[in-house]
Amino acid sequence: MNAKNKVLISGGAGYIGSHTAVELSEAGYDVVIIDNLTNSEINAIEGVRKITGKDIPFEKVDTCDINELRKVFEKYDFDTVIHFAAYKAVGESMAQPLKYYNNNLISFLNIMELMKEFDRPNILFSSSATVYGEAESLPVTEQSPRQPATSPYGNTKQMCEDILRDSCRAYPGIYGIALRYFNPIGAHPSSLIGELPRGVPNNLVPFITQTAAGIRECLSVFGNDYDTPDGTCLRDYIDIVDLAKAHVAAVRRMTSGDMQEKYEIFNIGTGKPVSVLELLTTFQEVNDIKVPHKMVDRRPGDVPAVWANTDYANHVLGWKAERTLAETLKSSWDWEKKIRKIQ
Ligand code: UFG
Repeated sequence: MNAKNKVLISGGAGYIGSHTAVELSEAGYDVVIIDNLTNSEINAIEGVRKITGKDIPFEKVDTCDINELRKVFEKYDFDTVIHFAAYKAVGESMAQPLKYYNNNLISFLNIMELMKEFDRPNILFSSSATVYGEAESLPVTEQSPRQPATSPYGNTKQMCEDILRDSCRAYPGIYGIALRYFNPIGAHPSSLIGELPRGVPNNLVPFITQTAAGIRECLSVFGNDYDTPDGTCLRDYIDIVDLAKAHVAAVRRMTSGDMQEKYEIFNIGTGKPVSVLELLTTFQEVNDIKVPHKMVDRRPGDVPAVWANTDYANHVLGWKAERTLAETLKSSWDWEKKIRKIQ
């Protein structure tokens, strides 16, 4: 198989990385995974291998160590890199900004340096809807202005996008795509891989599933006095397998020479706003389980509403979110039950 069909995935043991590895492999790409396992488990690699039935190569490598990373570039002849390896907790980034700037920027700079050094053409960066901040109008398109970042985490996403844009502009051999994810949720239908947050979850769905499992006493709904239909925040919750498939479409676009610009950006969401209460109700209905919850004050830093205009991704990538919210929330609960050994 030639280098065009080979993809290096940094952070491939993580939540989005592992699901993307599966979808790429099932689409016929040869995948190599690297991960330092600081915020992920080796079991995810086993899960990926089990689902695909392939002995996908894995190297325990820290992308912040350029010498270790260089060995991976020497050993494998991929044309494309998908860079997931990054810290992602907004709150932690406020408390420990240097940890975030160090890790998220150095790892990406190392990847970019080696792409240049080894003449590897395609780099896909995992960005976030966080770059839109509190948008002036909704839904947001890729042309909506980015707002000043409200956390070091969000700032690293903006800075990496800029590093990518400038590198694509300056180096003739480098092509980049940034995918701006909205709120990824759910798990693989096999329940062999899924989200594994360490400690108390920050995000809504893992908190709900852990509450349903009895690990947390009660879900706090952060704010019911927003200017939204039911007073709770609106988000665009995108199924993890759908999200992973967007990466396959983006890799296909890069490797087939279809890119119109050297650097392209796509929103990856469903295009549908869903409130916290709607999501919670759907979860309870589809899984036939009660989740104790209470209304509490707003969480500082939350924007009232953000959802995607996905026309560009739908038309240009030929990709569309397909799983329903109910299907996705069923997969979340199936995964939680599996890891907690609940019948
Ligand atoms: N929420 C609760 N209770 C909880 C957790 C969350 O009510 O215990 C609410 C939040 O207030 C928000 C919604 O659920 O209204 C979604 O919250 P998440 O923490 O799941 O997701 P965010 O939209 O805050 O953040 C996500 C990613 C970030 C990314 C951001 C971009 O986690 O990495 O989207 O918009 F930066």
